[in-house]
Amino acid sequence: MTSPAATWRPAGRADDLRAASLRPALAPPPPGAVSLAMGDPDFATPAAIVDAAAQALRDGHTHYADQQGHPSLRAAIAERLPGARSWTASDVLVTHGATAGLASLILATVNPGDRVVIPEPAYSLYADLVVLAGGRAVHVPLARSLHWDLDRLHAALPGARLVIFSNPANPTGVVHTRDELRALAAMLEGSDTLVVADEAYHRFVYAGHEFCSALSVDALAHRTVYVQTFSKTYAMTGWRVGYLVGPRPVVEAAALVHRTVNGSVNTAAQIAAVSALSLDDAALRPMLEAYEQRRNLVADELSGANGVALVPPEGGFYAFVRYEGDHPSVDVTLGLRDHGVIVRAGSEYGPSGEGHVRISFAAGADDLRTGLHRMRSYFDRRLRSTT
Ligand SMILES: Cc1ncc(COP(=O)(O)O)c(C=O)c1O
Repeated sequence: MTSPAATWRPAGRADDLRAASLRPALAPPPPGAVSLAMGDPDFATPAAIVDAAAQALRDGHTHYADQQGHPSLRAAIAERLPGARSWTASDVLVTHGATAGLASLILATVNPGDRVVIPEPAYSLYADLVVLAGGRAVHVPLARSLHWDLDRLHAALPGARLVIFSNPANPTGVVHTRDELRALAAMLEGSDTLVVADEAYHRFVYAGHEFCSALSVDALAHRTVYVQTFSKTYAMTGWRVGYLVGPRPVVEAAALVHRTVNGSVNTAAQIAAVSALSLDDAALRPMLEAYEQRRNLVADELSGANGVALVPPEGGFYAFVRYEGDHPSVDVTLGLRDHGVIVRAGSEYGPSGEGHVRISFAAGADDLRTGLHRMRSYFDRRLRSTT
């Protein structure tokens, strides 16, 4: 009797995803190594949020929630959105993290063969989701400053179903300015292209830089699907609560996909998310200050280091480090791993990510110091052995 497993093949789309995806599976670092690979804050979720979840469970909030999202959470989100437009709870879809928000949106909007413009290097989930939808990711290389190359973007946009970016950007650490967003709006005028603005890192913006939401640029807001998450701002990566807001028919289509794939989002986690939104800013300040210090440490340690170059992060909690020489970034990450520090290969984020590695300073300060020290010594030694 033959076992089905012997002849089993994944479905075509799953096979396409496996062939295309450069995203590594999450794994703990080997003993003795430190990880600067993960975008997972080392902070605990603020106690008031944890208390709200525990109380919600004790109060019996253990049932399915509204599939569009708990009404009190949607109302609280709608009240606080950036920009001039007023939103209601009906405009908001609560999702299983931004990951499921992006997935439902892309699966609901992209037809096989549709072009999706992704300025890159970009968060690697975007291209994978486009593959899953059967669309075509159109990679548009960034300028050397890691900001958008507006000429190339202009050439790539006509006929695109979507353009997707994160701001502040993962993996580059760039904060796109109001002028850049206005330029994008002007390029899209008269088209039916939707803009997907993933603003997961909106609270992480460093001295000398100003954040501007796509929703607060009038010429862009009407075609923007805003993607947000509690994961980064509130150190809630494990809670899995995010949301989408945008043109009503688009959000409705995404809601249908989301409820089909995920059902409703964890009820107690949503009630806790309401309490996160009403936290005083003072509760977040220690985390934000720590990120700023870590960002400065990264910039100081790597700016003058041998064999590497860095555009100091303007926002977010990643640094995208360019190294000298033409070794594939996957090989460099293996070399760094042998040197005791885990980072991500730049090629994961798109073709122009080659020649870079990404580090995360969501790692704790001690690991960060150790990891930066090991990186410096690795690149220094490597440079000396190749010159
Ligand atoms: C730009 C960006 N968007 C979305 C996500 C996913 O966030 P979530 O934990 O809400 O799924 C991440 C996580 O690293 C990210 O970097």
